[in-house]
Amino acid sequence: MKAVIPAAGLGTRFLPMTKNTPKEMLPVVDKPAIQYVVEEAINSGIDDIIIITGRGKEVIENHFDVAYELEKILEERGEREKLEEIRRISELADIFYVRQKKALGLGHAIYKAKKLIGDEFFAVLLGDDIIVARKPCILQLKEVYEKYNATVIAVQEVEKENVSKYGIIEGEEVEEGVYKVKRLVEKPSLEEAPSNIAIMGRYILSPFIFECIERTKPGKNNEIQLTDALNLLLEKEDIYAIKFDGKRYDLGDKFDWLCINIEMALQREEFKEKLIDYLKKLLNYVG
Ligand code: G1P
Repeated sequence: MKAVIPAAGLGTRFLPMTKNTPKEMLPVVDKPAIQYVVEEAINSGIDDIIIITGRGKEVIENHFDVAYELEKILEERGEREKLEEIRRISELADIFYVRQKKALGLGHAIYKAKKLIGDEFFAVLLGDDIIVARKPCILQLKEVYEKYNATVIAVQEVEKENVSKYGIIEGEEVEEGVYKVKRLVEKPSLEEAPSNIAIMGRYILSPFIFECIERTKPGKNNEIQLTDALNLLLEKEDIYAIKFDGKRYDLGDKFDWLCINIEMALQREEFKEKLIDYLKKLLNYVG
């Protein structure tokens, strides 16, 4: 199975940082966000990866490329550990890049991968959503896909006041945590929302989605929405949703970015104690 990682968005919620730096390159401790997403795909057995980029996103390509000068210097200095880490990044996966020339929406971005995907089911991992989970989120979706042989999307319940930030599903629970989807609505108002079960940036999609995207008219924010294309797909094929086990962070959001940095740093032995100590002192001071 191949994976598509859309990473062409403008990141306007994270200005001024994203004026000249893609949001996907924001650091989470010491790695850019998109590396966590690529690693999630690899840890789920997917190593053919298509990243949808746009203007100003060249640093993403450079990050996964060989850094000849840097490698040479690290080699000369005998810094083996750093050298191996840097080399490992360029050997992670076969990555293909496709440019989305105009920011016309998530559906439009995914459509750019049509020729590279062909006629197979494929995974989609949004480049600014990081999911911290014991079992990689996209692997959890793959397992449901293998059972039902149909499109699967990742969902989680959200607070009512947040439904307008997400695609929301209406579904019927067919086994614990798995829903058969009846309808999807992109960023509805609280009154329009059929539930508080929200789509969370991970999908296994049927190749039929490409035909559906072709027929999708601009929707919310005048963009070609993947959620609207999924509604068309529902007319012919089934869609399942899985309430995955894990925590999702939206890297486009400043507060989420602060939280994930603290959480990931606390998971690292080298920072854990020092950070807890520091936070305790800081809270006493602030409090
Ligand atoms: C996209 C999808 C939306 C989904 C969200 C999850 O929206 O269109 O359905 O709930 O990702 O991150 P975006 O946040 O890119 O506007």
